[in-house]
Amino acid sequence: MATASIQSASLLLSVLIFVGSFLQTTKLCSCSDNHKVGNCHSIERLALLDFKKGVVDPSNRLSSWRQDEEDCCKWHGVGCNNATGYVEKLDLRNPFHLVSPFMGGISPTLAQLKHLSYLDLSRNSFDSIPNQFIGSIKELRYLDLSSNCFRGRIPQQLGNLSNLNHLGLSRTCFSVQELQFLSHLTSLEYLDLSGLDLSKTGESLQYINRLNSLSELHLSGCQLSSFPLFTNFTTTLSVLDLSINNFEGLIFKAFVNFTSLQSLNLSTNRIQVPIPKTIGQMTSLRTLRLGKNDLTGPIDVLANLTSLECLDLDTNHLEGPIPLSFGGFCKLKELYLSRNNISGEITKFVNAISSCLPNSLETLESSQTKLTGKLPYSIGNLRSLKNLYLYKNNMSGTIPKSLGQLSELEQLDLSLNSWDGEVTEDHFANLANLRALHLGFDFDDEKPPKPLVFNLSPNWVCPFTEIFYLDLTNSKLGPLFPSWLQNLRPFHLILEDVGISDTIPDWFTKIYPSLWVLDLSNNQISGKIPLELQHGQNSTIMEFLNLGSNLFTGTIPLNINETMPNLQDLSLSNNLIEGGIPSSICNLKQLKVVSLSSNNLSGELPHECWEDSKYLEAIDLTNNHLSGEVPVSIWSAPKLSLLSVSKNGFSGKLPPNLTSLSPLRVIDLGENHFSGNLPMWMGKRLPNLEILRLRSNSFSGFIPKHHCLLHSLRILDLAHNELSGIIPHCFGNFSGMATIDPTNPFSIISVMVLSYKLLAEVSVLITKGIELEYNGTLAFLKCIDLSNNTFFGEIPMEITRLSGLSILNLSMNHLTGSIPEKIGYMQRLEVLDLSRNQLSGSIPPSISALNSLNHLNLSNNNLSGRIPSGNQLQTLPDSSIYTGNPELCGAPLKDCANHPNIVGPNHEENKGGFTWLPFFISMAIGFVVGFWSVCGTLILKKSWRYAFFRFIDDMKDTILVF
Ligand SMILES: *[C@@H]1O[C@H](CO)[C@@H](O)[C@H](O)[C@H]1NC(C)=O
Ligand SMILES: *[C@@H]1O[C@H](CO)[C@@H](O)[C@H](O)[C@H]1NC(C)=O
Ligand SMILES: *[C@@H]1O[C@H](CO)[C@@H](O)[C@H](O)[C@H]1NC(C)=O
Ligand SMILES: *[C@@H]1O[C@H](CO)[C@@H](O)[C@H](O)[C@H]1NC(C)=O
Repeated sequence: MATASIQSASLLLSVLIFVGSFLQTTKLCSCSDNHKVGNCHSIERLALLDFKKGVVDPSNRLSSWRQDEEDCCKWHGVGCNNATGYVEKLDLRNPFHLVSPFMGGISPTLAQLKHLSYLDLSRNSFDSIPNQFIGSIKELRYLDLSSNCFRGRIPQQLGNLSNLNHLGLSRTCFSVQELQFLSHLTSLEYLDLSGLDLSKTGESLQYINRLNSLSELHLSGCQLSSFPLFTNFTTTLSVLDLSINNFEGLIFKAFVNFTSLQSLNLSTNRIQVPIPKTIGQMTSLRTLRLGKNDLTGPIDVLANLTSLECLDLDTNHLEGPIPLSFGGFCKLKELYLSRNNISGEITKFVNAISSCLPNSLETLESSQTKLTGKLPYSIGNLRSLKNLYLYKNNMSGTIPKSLGQLSELEQLDLSLNSWDGEVTEDHFANLANLRALHLGFDFDDEKPPKPLVFNLSPNWVCPFTEIFYLDLTNSKLGPLFPSWLQNLRPFHLILEDVGISDTIPDWFTKIYPSLWVLDLSNNQISGKIPLELQHGQNSTIMEFLNLGSNLFTGTIPLNINETMPNLQDLSLSNNLIEGGIPSSICNLKQLKVVSLSSNNLSGELPHECWEDSKYLEAIDLTNNHLSGEVPVSIWSAPKLSLLSVSKNGFSGKLPPNLTSLSPLRVIDLGENHFSGNLPMWMGKRLPNLEILRLRSNSFSGFIPKHHCLLHSLRILDLAHNELSGIIPHCFGNFSGMATIDPTNPFSIISVMVLSYKLLAEVSVLITKGIELEYNGTLAFLKCIDLSNNTFFGEIPMEITRLSGLSILNLSMNHLTGSIPEKIGYMQRLEVLDLSRNQLSGSIPPSISALNSLNHLNLSNNNLSGRIPSGNQLQTLPDSSIYTGNPELCGAPLKDCANHPNIVGPNHEENKGGFTWLPFFISMAIGFVVGFWSVCGTLILKKSWRYAFFRFIDDMKDTILVF
């Protein structure tokens, strides 16, 4: 998700970046202005040209390195000494990932640059760097090779560069066994080995300790779990980054003597202790990042760290209130406390912070006798807090109005707490710099305990006109459509479930051109669906559009591919949209997910366009009035993993052939009028198929044996068709149903979450009209439903190998023979329905071992003998599940004593295997599950979680680089 955000941010930023790199170039070249053309040394010039030859340069960044440009000092990235003309600096850092990186190798002739002191090749895709070259550039003081992927071991020749001050090797893919080269780099002040696996360096890790002058050390993501206590640089080190490692609580002991540390990053480790007092004594700290650990206890140990500018304690188990003294953290710019158990109010903290006086004004205060009463806004303008994240805690009380005084505030997230009172205009009074307001919730979170209620006048003019990211999911904003949005041009706007029951005003489409993400889902917005843009207007950056679950009417515009050409995700499900699906939908070349379920769409699907849909991953057309055939070309969409057209009037046959493998994971054609045979290719061409739902159609013929090749299949629902023949013995080969894998839910769901940034909320429709929201457990559901067909022959005993199966429904067929002896092996069975067949023989005693069974139906067969008892069977006392078997006896039917054919007591009964606890638990579950007679209809409701909020942070850093 973050990647996607960043990618898209990159689009927006491209202009900035190009400006940035232009400035950079200009700056570099200015130092050579004093030189005449041709002043650069020809030997160095040739070396540079030779280097260029080895470089693959897709975006032509080295276009200024021309044969006919004599003065190489003017070339992009080259910096010469003012006086001598020698090249001293080569800066080929890729300014941003958007720009195509350099590729290829680094020519050893660069070694001709004898005076090179600064070499930056970072963020490219160079893949080799000659060792002899590294060993020879002895003047080098600054070397940055980060974010290139080199092969092989880290060159020990780096040890020759004894003048180095700065060494950046992060994410260079080198394998590192030995760090001895560091012992020669005695002047090193900056060292970054992030992303290199240092877990195999053993004792040689000690060489880092000996670097006497180190002031900045980055060892993020180095797979470290212990570190020799730092000693030699305790007084020089100012920045230490040990994030993303495996450190535990002991690591804190190492920092006792770090008297000059300004920035400490231990986030994303495995620290499970309270924050120790020693950290609270490191008063030089300006940045402290301990986020994403398992820290416990209160945070008031940090009360004396008044110099802090950034405090990140995000995602831990910290508790207690925000200490009062935090209000004295007047330099605080960023505070991240999200996802903890912080409680109490924020009033005092916000009040205190909002009355902080900026340093520059401290003297003013003391000289100007008194500043009393409310602080004027002009002073309010100087409050330094920029980012405040209190997301997902247990905070209560009201949000103080003084929040509106924090005029530097750029990112604010207070969601998922239990705030009282309302959010009013005062809360935003002075927040002109607000760039991101997040009061929504993430897909893995529950809904907020209390929605935040906004009370804003209809004429409010909102001060944060530069807002970029606005997510108010689940707060109470409506019922009117907020007119203050009118002046905003956000990039990311999510107003999901905010209680709007209004129409969309005309001005709204004016903000489309700035939008990348728009989500208005789960409101009661009526009127025409706002997709018709005015002439000449289009929305080229819009990629995610979700208008689902509203009351929109109207039709899908014919020119949607022109007005929103880059749409990737389009959800209009659960509305009142009519008309047909225009072929422009499949001309949306970037489309990945299209969800139009539960509307009044009619007509046929556009033909002949789907195979070009290169990126299409999911189509959900469930529950409309569509008819005609499903175009053959859909089956060849190269990335399609979900196809659901259930509950429509589609007809026709499945295509007889499919030549290439298809990535489909879910096929739901249920409740239509499809007919014909089940084609053989289904077994051969769908290696990833997990759900096959063909229920309630007119499919006929046999189940081809090839279907047994569907090893990932977890739900097979062929019920209510005209299928016939025997149930293949190879059904036992469905290995996806034979495993019990609670840790490995449907990969489709992870696919949905990960690649579409969506939440797949799966609802199960139950025949009796009861709809169950079923979120987690369905992910583990495994089911075979072949009911209401004309299958004959015996139930293959191999089916009992499917020990992960939860539901087996073979009712309403012509099955004969007996119930497989080993039915009790199917330990996960919750529903077993074999009713209305011609099964005979006795009920196997092993059935009483089915501890999860909640719904059993064996009625209307020719079963005979004694009904086994004990265990779970005791909880299913309803006699109707056995009726229609005249030869059957025992509880809950008539007593076997009166039954002449039965001899001997039932031993099971006397073993006392029955326990009460599971009984009560399963009563509850059983009530719900017992209603199931189907494997469920899958409705994929997409929620939009693109988003990572803090990506604005990343952007800011990127901008700052320039
Ligand atoms: C470059 O030369 C100018 C005068 O020619 C001088 O003022 C300046 O300091 C020099 N810069 C460097 C970096 O040597
Ligand atoms: C500290 O540096 C000195 C040399 O500068 C070295 O002899 C000593 O071993 C280093 N200490 C540690 C613990 O590495
Ligand atoms: C901190 O410094 C003291 C005194 O110099 C020393 O005895 C102690 O071992 C040091 N602790 C650590 C963890 O380096
Ligand atoms: C903060 O500093 C004061 C004065 O040095 C000290 O008494 C107090 O214990 C410190 N508080 C914490 C939490 O370390």
